[in-house]
Amino acid sequence: MSIAVDQERLSREIEELAAISDGEVPAVTRVVFTPTDLKARDWLMAKCKKAGLTVRQDPVGNIFARWTGSQPDAPAVGTGSHIDAIPNAGKYDGVVGVLGGLEAIRSLQASGFRPKHSIELLMFTSEEPTRFGIGCLGSRLLSGSLSVNKARKLADRDGILLEEVRANAGVTGALEEVKLPDGYYKAFVELHIEQGPLLEQQNIPLGLVTHIAAPASLRISIEGEGGHAGAVLMPERRDALCAAAELILAIETAARASNARDSVATVGICTVFPGAVNSIPSRVQLSVDVRDTNLERRDEILRRIRAAGQNVAAQRQVVLDEEVLNADAPAECATSIVETLAESCKKHQLNFMPMVSRAYHDSLFMSRITAVAMLFIPCRNGYSHRPDEYVSSEEIERGVIVLAETLASLAA
Ligand code: GLV
Ligand code: MN
Ligand code: MN
Repeated sequence: MSIAVDQERLSREIEELAAISDGEVPAVTRVVFTPTDLKARDWLMAKCKKAGLTVRQDPVGNIFARWTGSQPDAPAVGTGSHIDAIPNAGKYDGVVGVLGGLEAIRSLQASGFRPKHSIELLMFTSEEPTRFGIGCLGSRLLSGSLSVNKARKLADRDGILLEEVRANAGVTGALEEVKLPDGYYKAFVELHIEQGPLLEQQNIPLGLVTHIAAPASLRISIEGEGGHAGAVLMPERRDALCAAAELILAIETAARASNARDSVATVGICTVFPGAVNSIPSRVQLSVDVRDTNLERRDEILRRIRAAGQNVAAQRQVVLDEEVLNADAPAECATSIVETLAESCKKHQLNFMPMVSRAYHDSLFMSRITAVAMLFIPCRNGYSHRPDEYVSSEEIERGVIVLAETLASLAA
C-alpha cells in the first residue's frame, strides 16, 4: 500500500478554514458555537461528506465522520482533534489533527485500502476552555469524564448556560446521549502540533507521545472592600486586587517550589471589579491553570496555592473562594499503538522521539475509554496559541503519512 498525500489540497483547506475566523489576519479566533464556529463546522461537514464519509453530530456538537469498514459492527478506529481556536490563535492547533485526519482517510481511500474496522474522524466540541472555562468539553462528555449534571451548570461569561448556547446553535438532543457505549472504539490516534520547541531544536520531524500531563484549573474569587480612591486612607483598605497580586506571585512560587521541569502554574485571567481608575477594587476573579506530568506533584502545588490563599485572606482581611473547575489525572499512551507509529516512521526513515505532552488534548479523555496515542509534528520556534504559529506543509505531510499508515494497521 502506498500512501500519497495531496499536500496542496490539505494546505488549501487549512487556509480556507483559517479564513473562517473572528480574528484579524493572520490571527485566528473561533470560539465554540459562535456564528463563525458554526460556519466552520458546516464547512468541515461538507468536506467530510464530499469524501464519502457518513457524518453525524451528537447533542454537544461533537462531529463524527465515518468510513464504514467491512465489519461495520466491530469497534471503530478514531482519529481527529478540534477546530475551535482561542482568541488571537494560529491556524494549526487542532486543525492539523482534523484536516490531517481527513486527508489521511482520503489518501487511504485513494490507495485502494479497505478497512475492516470503520475509521472515524472526530471533531471535538470546545477543546479550548475559552467559552465555558473548561477544556475538552466534547471529549469529557463522550468519555463519561464529565457528568451531565455538571455540564448543565456550565455557563459562559455572559451567564448563558451551555444548554441555551447549544440550542441557539441548533445543536439539539439530550446531553445524556453524548456518552459513547462501552467498546465503541478500538483505538484513537491524534495528530497535533507539538506546541513546544523540542522537535525543532533537535531537528526531529516526529514526536511519539507517551504521556499527557495532568491539568487542573481553578477559579478564585477575592472579595475585599471598594471605595473612593482618594478618600479611603491606606490603613483602612481591603483592596481585592492587592490581595490578588500577592496570590498571583504565590502561585508562581508554588509551581517553582516543585523544582521539577514539568510543574507549571499560570494565572491567565484577572477580572477586576468595578474597574474604574478612581475606585478601590472590591472584587477580583482569577483563573488559574496548574499542570504536571506527575499527579501527586500537581496536587501538592494545588495544596500550596490553597495555603497561600488562606494566608493572603487572613493578612489582608479579604474573603477568598476557590472553585475547582477540573483536576484531571494524566494519561499514558498505549505502547502497542506507539510501536505501530514507530514502525511507520522507520519505514520512511523518519527520525522520531518519545515525548511528553505538556498541553492537554482530547486524547487525554479518549484514554479513559480506549487505547490512545498521539503524534506530534514540530512548529516553528515552538510557538502556539499565537497568530505566528507555523508548521510547514512538508512537516504536516510526514505526520499525515504516518497517521494514515497507523490507522490502516489498526483498522485492518
Ligand atoms: C490546550 O489547548 C491546552 O491548553 O493545553
Ligand atoms: Mn489550544
Ligand atoms: Mn489543540
